[in-house]
This record gives sequence, C-alpha cells and structure tokens, in this order.
Amino acid sequence: MNEAQLASVAQSLVADGRGILAADESTGTITRRFETIEVESTEDNRRAYRELLFTTAELGNYISGAILYDETIRQSAADGRPLTKVLKDQNIHPGIKVDTGAKPLAGTEGETVTEGLDGLADRVAEYVSLGATFAKWRAVITIGRHIPSAYCIHVNAHALARYARLCQEGGLVPIVEPEVLMDGAHDLDRCDRVTHDTLEAVFDELHRQRVALEGMLLKPNMVISGTKAEVRAGVDEVAERTVRCLRRTVPAAVPGIVFLSGGQSEVEATAHLNAMNANHGPNPWKLSFSYGRALQDGALKGWRGEAGNTGAAQGVLQRRALLNSAAALGTYSGEAA
Ligand code: 13P
Repeated sequence: MNEAQLASVAQSLVADGRGILAADESTGTITRRFETIEVESTEDNRRAYRELLFTTAELGNYISGAILYDETIRQSAADGRPLTKVLKDQNIHPGIKVDTGAKPLAGTEGETVTEGLDGLADRVAEYVSLGATFAKWRAVITIGRHIPSAYCIHVNAHALARYARLCQEGGLVPIVEPEVLMDGAHDLDRCDRVTHDTLEAVFDELHRQRVALEGMLLKPNMVISGTKAEVRAGVDEVAERTVRCLRRTVPAAVPGIVFLSGGQSEVEATAHLNAMNANHGPNPWKLSFSYGRALQDGALKGWRGEAGNTGAAQGVLQRRALLNSAAALGTYSGEAA
C-alpha cells in the first residue's frame, strides 16, 4: 500500500457510525475472560467464540474492523471459511495485534515497555499475506505515586513510532495505542496531565520517525478518574476534558481517534463517546471506538460456552455495536432507545 492507500483504509476504519471490535486478547487474557464464565480455554473454544462474534448478523453496519490475535488470524469457521474471509464477507477489515506484550522495564519499579520489534517487518509481510489491512500495538503507562517516569513514556513512544513506520512500510495501517491505565486512586487532573505528556511524546516520536499521520489511527484512553478515586468525574466532564486534551496534542492530519474502553462498563464507554460527539464538536478527526471488553462483556456472559446460546449472545453483541455506532454519531439516547 502506498500512502494514499493507507490513508484510504484509515478513513474507512472511521467511516460515519463505524468503529472497531478489539478481539485480539492474547491466549493468557482470553483464558482469564473464559474463567469468568467457567469455560475451558481450548483452541477450539477460542475459535468458536471468535466465530460467534464475527458471524453476528449485520455486524458490518456498525463495525469497520476487527483486531485479531496471531492464533485467530490462522483459524477458520465451522463452514471452512478462514475467519479473515468471514470478516471480509461482512465488509469488516481484519486487523492484527503485532506487539508481544508489555514487559518489565529495566531500571524501574513497576513500569513496562512493550516488546515485539524484533523481526516485525517479516511478521508484517506474513500478516499482509493472511489478509490483514491494519495492525495494533499497545503501550501501557501506569499512574502511581512516583510514576510514570519520563523514561518509561519515552521508550514506549519510541517503540510505538518504530512499529508504526514499519507497518506503513509493509502495507498495514498502524493503530497507535498508548494506554494510560485507569487503575488507581488518581483524580481526573492527574489522568489529564499524564495523558497529555504521553500523547505529546508519542506524536514527537511519530514525527521524528517519519510516520504518515494520514495513514494511522490513534487509540488512546479517555481522560477519566482512577477506578479507586474518591470522587469520580461525571459523563460530560470526562467528555469535555478528553476532547480538550486531544485537541492540544493530536494533529488534525490524523483521520481518527478510536478509544479503548480500559475497564469502563459497556454503558459508561458508550455514554462517554456519545457525549464527546454530541456536545464537544466539531473536531478535526473522527471520534469512534475500538472497544474490547465494552463490546464483548455481555456477549461473553450470554454465551457461557454453550452452542445453544450463540443466537442470544450474538443479539447482545449486535445491540451493543449498534449503540456504539450511535455514540460515534452523537445520537445515542440511552439503553432503552
Ligand atoms: P478494552 O476496550 O477492553 O480496554 O480493550 C481494548 C484493547 O484493544 C486493549 O488493547
């Protein structure tokens, strides 16, 4: 893909009322999710669950892309179609998680750096041959008493930019995901400052490393109170502060910002996105979603590993996707609507 083609894919991923389904849980993470519904994490159960998600009727009306894990991009549906084909038949771009996880950062206490750059050019080429059109890399920034350090922000921003440029060179649109975690008792102001510093460092590195901003998407956290904060900011305050932080840090050349849900409930994640689009525009970029838990939680609980629950679980996912599509347009009017 040349730069114009990368830009065209990036724009289609944030087309009006469409967003991304993050289904790229590593084997360790999906195993923890399955434990909550008492389902054994076998390769075939993981395959069946992803097939359930991707064969949901009309999913492509609301979902533009689905992010897969390495195991999943090689799997097929029960009818023999590769899962990438199942997605393409729904007009959904297959994407791929290419980082290999957040690992302890030497010289720090409790901070991480995301790994996966070694051999990345070759892996990108393979994923392109398997049908992927976009990729994701997640960096993790933790808020604590004396962290994040400038060192941690810097090395993660550097790696994100290296990944992004390698993807563009190999023909994948990179989703750049610097996640400032919600974990902790910090307030909204602290999340705002850390998110600001992180995004500033990330765009500085993207610029230095010649990443084409038109051919990428940003996947940030929202500016939100820590999960253990004594007072938690309300929906409109989160929306207002998030948009203000992004306006200060994200160049207008970026076509879209797709939020992670990061531990927010399904309803919170939808309400926050809607408030941004309904009350805090216009903005130079699209504001949409790339939710994992906030799209899948209800469907996962509805399924519980029973084939007989597939239809009901798909109904839950379809409804959640529709509500988030409305939120991306700023027209969500509550759960009952
Ligand atoms: P959550 O929406 O569950 O945070 O997952 C999104 C994601 O892809 C994290 O990397």
